[in-house]
Amino acid sequence: MTLSIQPLHPEFVGEVEGVDLTRPLDAAEVAAIEAGMDRYAVLVFHNQRLDDAQQMAFTRNFGEIENARGGNVTKPGEHRLPQGMNDVSNLGQDNQPLARDDRRRLFNLGNQLWHSDSSFRAIPAKYSLLSCRLPATSGGNTEFADMRAAYDALDPATKAEVAELICEHSLMYSRGSLGFTELTEEEKAAFRPVRQSLVRTHPVSGRVSLYLASHIGTIVGWPRPEAMAFIRDLTEHATQPGFVHAHRWRQWDLVIWDNRQTMHRVRRFDDRQPRDMRRTTVAGTAPTAEQIAA
Ligand SMILES: [Fe+2]
Repeated sequence: MTLSIQPLHPEFVGEVEGVDLTRPLDAAEVAAIEAGMDRYAVLVFHNQRLDDAQQMAFTRNFGEIENARGGNVTKPGEHRLPQGMNDVSNLGQDNQPLARDDRRRLFNLGNQLWHSDSSFRAIPAKYSLLSCRLPATSGGNTEFADMRAAYDALDPATKAEVAELICEHSLMYSRGSLGFTELTEEEKAAFRPVRQSLVRTHPVSGRVSLYLASHIGTIVGWPRPEAMAFIRDLTEHATQPGFVHAHRWRQWDLVIWDNRQTMHRVRRFDDRQPRDMRRTTVAGTAPTAEQIAA
């Protein structure tokens, strides 16, 4: 078996064949996947029957696993999956769908907004790896947007305008935009805004991308409504159909995306039925902007 990658979209997204991710990979295979990520920013693998331990072992080929603490409203003792796994399912510990008014479900609806994982952390995520253990019975596609192509298509004046801008990101802002505003003091402290550059340069390819997310709540030094109008405008630009690819999940798909170069969102699905999706996240290595002192 040799690893090969076929493009699924004119700008980004590759489909990988010829590798079994349940087994330890050799250095050449890891290098080929990293190179594919640098080029395509999203890679799709089919028929990868991973368990949690195998998924975490595969993830560690690309860096440290991010500590998921502070990224949701699930309380200690409520977790369905082991440490190191992000539960992106609609399930409680009993493996049954969460009730319609369950706070965790309402919080997770924020995943239907365009975002980049962990942009609300001072050191944001590198890759996310999402394993489809059980797809939704209807709906539930994940859409990806290529933020490099979006940047390249900006006019020169807008490129100059965004070049030095710093945004504040928080889960409070993305959830607040859906009307999820009741947070405990502990959650407010965990969701304290962090600063991120609006433009990032990929360390290997040198390609420049817009670093957008629904977690953005303002641009540092701007009046807030002006900032949010501009961010909304940039987001509309960046998510136009030519920059977007929709992934329709099959059981045992694994999709990896680079959060530094893409945004994503899940589309509505029938969540009275189980949808079991499990994510591992590769931590980033450096902040994108200087933080305000605590
Ligand atoms: Fe996400």
